[in-house]
Amino acid sequence: MTAIAITEHGGPMVLKPEEWPVPEPAEGEILIKVKAAGVNRPDVAQRKGIYPPPPGASDLPGLEVAGEVAVVGEDVKRWRVGDQVAALTPGGGYAQYCTVHETNALPIPHGFTFTEAAALPETFFTVWHNVFERGALKAGETLLVHGGSSGIGTTAIQLAAAFGATVIATAGSSEKCAACAALGAARAINYREEDFVLAVKEATEGRGADVILDMVGGDYIDRNYDAAAMDGRIVQIAFLSGAKAKADFSKLMVKRLTHTGSTLRPRSVAFKGRIATELEAHVWPLLAARKVAPVMDMIFPLKEAWRAHERMEEGAHIGKIVLDVA
Ligand SMILES: NC(=O)c1ccc[n+]([C@@H]2O[C@H](COP(=O)([O-])OP(=O)(O)OC[C@H]3O[C@@H](n4cnc5c(N)ncnc54)[C@H](OP(=O)(O)O)[C@@H]3O)[C@@H](O)[C@H]2O)c1
Repeated sequence: MTAIAITEHGGPMVLKPEEWPVPEPAEGEILIKVKAAGVNRPDVAQRKGIYPPPPGASDLPGLEVAGEVAVVGEDVKRWRVGDQVAALTPGGGYAQYCTVHETNALPIPHGFTFTEAAALPETFFTVWHNVFERGALKAGETLLVHGGSSGIGTTAIQLAAAFGATVIATAGSSEKCAACAALGAARAINYREEDFVLAVKEATEGRGADVILDMVGGDYIDRNYDAAAMDGRIVQIAFLSGAKAKADFSKLMVKRLTHTGSTLRPRSVAFKGRIATELEAHVWPLLAARKVAPVMDMIFPLKEAWRAHERMEEGAHIGKIVLDVA
């Protein structure tokens, strides 16, 4: 099969098509004939050599795919050859074939194309766990999403709004802010022009945000403590501006804040299977009804995966970048 290998750590051009053996599904796994694969910022970090695959995962990049079940491994209960699925993978998605545990695959929502379906798993699993489980966001509360126009951000805005929260988003341009507002953000803050702490306080009549989803870190850490409401929850999913910072931790104590975080990729098959069950019950109906949908930025052919990474690193994209693996 054709797969996109990381031939060495470096810029987008190190992503090159190679011939690889088709992987064999182990017990409980399915082999998917991949039709489309989502591109995520962690793939960029893996390519640069700063986010190695967890033990046992494929060396190939790619954390999510959509396609057709080609082979079912021993003891697979749910899927049959020919079923159409969207799946979270621990790696190996940038390829014509990919194996996943059957519980980490979901049916393609009704009416979705393969490219749309491939844009779902990584951000929906991440947002569900970090915003609704770790952050415990409830209807009527306020969520502040940094990086609102990212793959993660566009998912978080839509899901939080769909479940009755008020959403405030930050983004780096007026075009990105307009996209956040169109997705349901009650207030979109261009952080290059406005201080997000002041803007959040103003938008919440001084209360602050109940939950903050942060991928930026750096000096946002102390500022998030300022922007948070009493008993607020701050969930860290990345540190794009750095993981080391000076912060006044007395705010954590005085405001009774919870500061937590997680990474999805190294979690167990069982953990991801549990999230898949939750998503299928609570979110898949919203997708089928088109109340929530992935925001599609650009689609590139598999062999031009390097262009997809270039697009992501330029930072102008809004929503998801996907590879077409036809
Ligand atoms: N922990 C987990 O389980 C998990 C899972 C998936 C993804 N992630 C992380 O979540 C983040 C978003 O992922 P994604 O795939 O949605 O990526 P993406 O679409 O490329 O989004 C990155 C966003 O961050 C914003 N940003 C803010 N400060 C930045 C900085 N200093 N450098 C670069 N971008 C900056 C960018 O837009 P503007 O600055 O223009 O607003 C952009 O919207 C990534 O950091 C990724 O590693 C974590």
